[in-house]
This record gives sequence, structure tokens and C-alpha cells, in this order.
Amino acid sequence: MLYDSNPTLEGIKSIDEASQGSVFFKENAELGRSPGLKHFYIESYGCQMNFSDSEIVASILGDIGYAPTRNMEESDLILVNTCSIREKAEETVRKRLKVFDVVKSKRPGTKVGILGCMAERLKKKWLEEEKLVDLVVGPDAYRDLPNLIGAAEEGGRMVNVLLSREETYADISPVRLESNGVTAFISIMRGCDNMCSFCVVPFTRGRERSRDPFSIVAEATDLFQKGFREVTLLGQNVDSYKWENPETGEPTDFADLLAMTAHIDPNLRVRFSTSHPKDMTDKVLHTMATHENICKYIHLPVQSGNSRILEMMNRTYDREWYMNRMESIRRILPEAAVSSDIITGFCSETEEEHQDTLSIVEWAEYSMSYMFAYSERPGTLAARKYPDDIPEDVKKRRLNEVIRLQTAMALKHNKRDIGKTFKVLIERDSSKSADDFCGRNSQNKMCVFPKQPGLKPGDYVEVKIHDASSATLLGKIA
Ligand code: SAH
Ligand code: SF4
Ligand code: F3S
Repeated sequence: MLYDSNPTLEGIKSIDEASQGSVFFKENAELGRSPGLKHFYIESYGCQMNFSDSEIVASILGDIGYAPTRNMEESDLILVNTCSIREKAEETVRKRLKVFDVVKSKRPGTKVGILGCMAERLKKKWLEEEKLVDLVVGPDAYRDLPNLIGAAEEGGRMVNVLLSREETYADISPVRLESNGVTAFISIMRGCDNMCSFCVVPFTRGRERSRDPFSIVAEATDLFQKGFREVTLLGQNVDSYKWENPETGEPTDFADLLAMTAHIDPNLRVRFSTSHPKDMTDKVLHTMATHENICKYIHLPVQSGNSRILEMMNRTYDREWYMNRMESIRRILPEAAVSSDIITGFCSETEEEHQDTLSIVEWAEYSMSYMFAYSERPGTLAARKYPDDIPEDVKKRRLNEVIRLQTAMALKHNKRDIGKTFKVLIERDSSKSADDFCGRNSQNKMCVFPKQPGLKPGDYVEVKIHDASSATLLGKIA
């Protein structure tokens, strides 16, 4: 998964950056209150699916007369869409609650709601632990928000953390909140049926289910007609996407869905995340090769380079299987970039096993990686079966070694692009200079280049690269 809307700083993301929150607001929207409307303020943490869910929540709240605001001091409802993936992510939310408490003491009518994975994990414990929380709503219960908010306005403290086997919010048109008007995310499935032993997601998000492909294509078509030029299809394991037409029985797999989305228009780019090494098929790779507008970029998390650790992690592949999948990518999509997620210091990991992770980072030549020190999560398979026995300083030292190597690999990867020309989709002004645009190439690398008159975000340009850091390519419009 992607962890927030902000692409990498140095071609890497460490544990702290990955759990930073983001405040949503409507672009061009009034910052103050609109008369006659109630206002909600929402902060989102964790993966891109959570950010997508906040856009569903905004849509549901819009239907009951709540408009988004950036100003929490003026809001009637403060929501925080939470992440449980690592302890640090949960600590961040606890700290934010202290800030909301101050706001609430100045504006006593304001309600505070916990959404997302931490709501699901801790359920009604919230009401016991945090006096200021009025609402606790799990990721499958957002349709119930109008009722729950109504009851909270009457003074109730409400909890709905029911998980569903069917809910995909397929019919809800997300309100694009913090949007650049060019790129958007579309959830294609929810939940996860894998049981990676370190991971809390199956507990917080429930069973895997796939969304009707026609509703996905309709959403992407609508975005294209509104001027968007790139969609990213989101799921915890997109390769296990599976939908069966209830009338004809005809199945749609992920490769089929990719092709359907790519057919909308050659000028609509299609990305996706996350691919699971155990499920990624050559059919998907061939579909990517067939369509120019399916971006040549795969996020294929390895987690560890050592087969014993991978087995303990219950990833259901080993080092050789992973290398074989990488070789298929290199054969079928020679120009593709691959990125990864890596965990250091998993239970009982030895120095030699850690070296295997370093060696696979070097071998795979990832363009980018998200890297984390193992954080034990209550209730997971690993927490129940294996002692969390690697000292914190060792986990951090190993993490730093991986980060150092990955940064060097990213630099090497990017330097190889010097002299090449890429098709780039302009996203926005560069954050460093209003004289420059930035946008990504098919391989998901951020390119920065001087503006030229007549061009705007949403346009495609050919950019010739003349310099590179570990995070960015610098070029000129060719
Ligand atoms: N579905 C995706 C991962 C989603 S979670 C996949 O299977 O690849 C995002 C990343 O967080 C994981 O890939 C893993 O690297 C990291 N992560 C998950 N649980 C963790 C934990 N307990 N400690 C440290 N990192 C963890
Ligand atoms: Fe977690 Fe594994 Fe599912 Fe990814 S595939 S969300 S790591 S259980
Ligand atoms: Fe995502 Fe965090 Fe939940 S990574 S699925 S928000 S635990």
C-alpha cells in the first residue's frame, strides 16, 4: 500500500514519516463556515485506503448537511481516521486526542469521533479509556454514521464496529478532498484474507471482498471526464481481486480489471497497489505490457530476504520464489521499476538473516522502499506465537543499514535515467520553485522540470533527464 499522499522524500520512507497524518480540506473551498451548514474536520493516518475511506465518509456526511472545513476550532464534528499498523501510529493518534480535547473544552457542542483501524481494534474500550470520544466507528460501518451522529448529538456515546463480508461502498461517490485534480485513488477491494503473522490488518479490516468492476470503471470514467488523468487502483493484495457476475457467472480477475480500466481512454493512466509476491501472475505482467497507459511500476513488498523469516511471517513464499517473480518482471517488462516494503528485527532474526535482507535489496535494485522496524501488534499470530526478542537498538541499527543501502540503490537506479526521455504527467508546481512543474513518469519517479507557457497540470510532456538524486529526476521538456 501507499502510506500517504506525499511521495518519497529521499526515495525512502522511515517509520515516522509513514505514519504522519494529513488534514483534508476541499480545494478552493471556503475556510470559514458556510451559513446553514454544519462542519466536520477530518484527519487521516495510515495507508492510502484510509485516505480513500475518508473521501467516502465525506460523501456520506455531505448527504446529511455536513461540509468539510480545515479549521478544527470551527467544526461541529472532529473525526480522526486511524491506523493500527505499528505502535507508533497509534501513539500519534493518542497525542492528537489531547489537542482535540482542548478544542472541545472551548466549544462544548463539538463531537469527536474515532474511525478506521484503531476504532476496530479497540472497539468500546475507547469509551472507557478516553472520556472525550463520542463516536467509535469501524471501517465497514460508515453508512451508519448519520444515525450515530444523530444519537451523539442527543448526548449518546455511540459505537459501531461491525465488520461486513459484503460492504464495498461501491455505490458511494467519494468526495475528492485534498485533490490536485489530476490523480485519484479508487478502492477496488476491502479487507485481507492473508494472515501475515506480523500484521493487524486482517483483524481491523475483516475479510477480503472485491468491488463490482463496472462500478470501478464507472468511477474511473467519471474522474477522466472531470479532467483527472491518473487513477490508482487500491487493495491490500490486488492480485487476489476476484469478482463473479451474479447473472452470468463470468469471473473478472485483476488482469481483466486492469485491461477494462486501461480501455477507458489512452490518456488515462492506470496504477495499482499493492501486489503480493505469492499471487502476482504473468497474466498481469502481460496485460501491463500490452497497454501503454498501465504504468510500468510494481510495488512488490518482500518484507525479508530470508526464507526462514518469511516462513515465520507466514508470507507463503520464500526468497527463491520472490526472485523468480522479479525475474518474470524483468523478462516481460524490462523497463519497469519495482519498490518494496521491508521489516527489520522480526522475532528471532539473526545477523545472517538480516544480511539476506540487505542482499536482496541490492539484488532487486528497488527504485524505492518503505522500511520499518518490527512493532509487535496485540492479537496477531506473531504476538501469540513468537517472543519479540530483538532489542530495540538492534532493530533500529538494522533498519538504518537497510535505509542506507536502499538510498544508495535508489540513487544508482535514478542515475541510470540520465540522458533518457520520459513521458511525464504534470501534477502540480514543484514544492521548491513556482518556476518548475513536477510530475511522475510511468515508473513512478518524480520528475522536476522548468515550466513552459501554455502547459498546465493534467498535460503530458516529454522530459529529458539531465540530473538525479535518490528521490527525484531533474530534466527539461524535450
Ligand atoms: N498489504 C500489504 C501491506 C500493508 S501494511 C502487503 O501485503 O504488502 C504496509 C506495510 O507495513 C507492510 O508491508 C509491512 O512492511 C509493514 N508492517 C505491517 N505490520 C507491521 C508491523 N507489525 N511492524 C512493522 N511493520 C509492519
Ligand atoms: Fe497484512 Fe499480509 Fe494482508 Fe498485507 S497481505 S495486509 S501484510 S496480512
Ligand atoms: Fe491501513 Fe493502517 Fe489500517 S495501514 S489498513 S490504516 S492498520
